[in-house]
Amino acid sequence: KTITGTFCHAPVLGQIEILKGALVEIDGEGRIADVIPAGSAAHVEKRAAAEAAGTLVVAPAKSYVLPGFVDLHIHAPQYPQLGKALDVPLEVWLQQHTFPLEARYADLAFARRHYSALVEDLIANGTTTALYFATQHVEASMALVDICLEKGQRALVGKVAMDNPAECPEYYRDASAEEGIAGTKALIDYVAAHPENHGLVHPVITPRFVPSCTDPLLEGLGKLARECGCHVQTHCSESDWAHGYVLDRFGRTDAETLDRFGLMTRRTVLAHSNFLTDGDMDLIHARGAGVAHCPLSNAYFANSVFPLRAALAKGVRVGLGTDISGGPTASMIEAQRMAIAASRMLETGVDPAQPQETRGRPGSRIDFDVAFHLATAGGGDALDLPVGQFAPGFHFDAILVDPDAPGSTMRVWDDIDSDEDALQKIVYTASKANLAAVWIGGRPVTGAAL
Ligand code: GUN
Ligand code: FE
Repeated sequence: KTITGTFCHAPVLGQIEILKGALVEIDGEGRIADVIPAGSAAHVEKRAAAEAAGTLVVAPAKSYVLPGFVDLHIHAPQYPQLGKALDVPLEVWLQQHTFPLEARYADLAFARRHYSALVEDLIANGTTTALYFATQHVEASMALVDICLEKGQRALVGKVAMDNPAECPEYYRDASAEEGIAGTKALIDYVAAHPENHGLVHPVITPRFVPSCTDPLLEGLGKLARECGCHVQTHCSESDWAHGYVLDRFGRTDAETLDRFGLMTRRTVLAHSNFLTDGDMDLIHARGAGVAHCPLSNAYFANSVFPLRAALAKGVRVGLGTDISGGPTASMIEAQRMAIAASRMLETGVDPAQPQETRGRPGSRIDFDVAFHLATAGGGDALDLPVGQFAPGFHFDAILVDPDAPGSTMRVWDDIDSDEDALQKIVYTASKANLAAVWIGGRPVTGAAL
């Protein structure tokens, strides 16, 4: 197939590229074979050839084609509690709400029903790649893999490892470090051997966070990460409590602790990371690990705003996460808006009782261009996966945005707005109503049969 339309992407931080009328050629594997800008001889020739072969797909006039979004941190089992229990601290929320809910995924029918609803809703909201925490259960984690494959979503799935009896309830934990490691291995093997999986789904080594894991579990998972080269994900220095817990137990920060256990690799994604020291940022940069910035969840549970500009200045790879259900939205468009708003609040300071001169952190703000990059190319880069931009070799994971969709409050005016204005309006005002189609790996997964 060859698709033509107005493509918008942000391969480089802070730079928007608009390819008006370009041709994007997709190969048999769903990867981009070539991107041909309008106005060249090759464009005329290739467009005519695709048209003659009946393989040309023309995006509707006035629509925009964007890379699909990469949700870099999401708890799949917490979707049923989206929008609930946001009024208690993290450690209370885990024990009283989240662990009891996650424990219910021992029931596979329950798991299938809720995972199916989530994956469908995420795809409809333009999330084409998701880095998922599943639950402690191996079978239910396998069910999430199956559902992502059935529905065609690119996904990285981790069976949550958590064995520390001091922090995890008896009804919901790995019975031992060995069981946590064996379960993680079982999921890795399942994904590798799955007959329907041709690179769409990847396994992830997933120690929940340092407090929920014993030393032998962290050690074993670190060894496994070295052996298999898989992705690793965990929570890092999220809240005062979580950050302080690790300092008390090890006399070191989360980042230093994870590194000593061999869990800080180029394929590691650290969620939150709000309380990183300068040294932590240097360490993360040196290891090539990434950070999942979860701005909305941070407002409820972290007692902090992630110092995004500081991390970017250090060269840390950053993407955006919804952190469902710590963050009460499934929409990566809303996550972009929240990242912008959080950065503005960090910059200006929010406490009017403070003198104006000492409020806030100058230079913290971002705008739509950076947020859009983080939600697409930045997330892809943090995962080391070829997603999030329109370039040869990248997977064709994309969304079709109809700016004038009924039921939305977005309008793009021919006589007022440039294409760059339109992209800005998409980030600030678009909703699910504006997503007319979604492709993953070149395959239409929702929307009109394009
Ligand atoms: N820390 C440990 N588990 C969790 C979780 O499920 N959500 C969030 N936001 N933080 C965590
Ligand atoms: Fe989380």
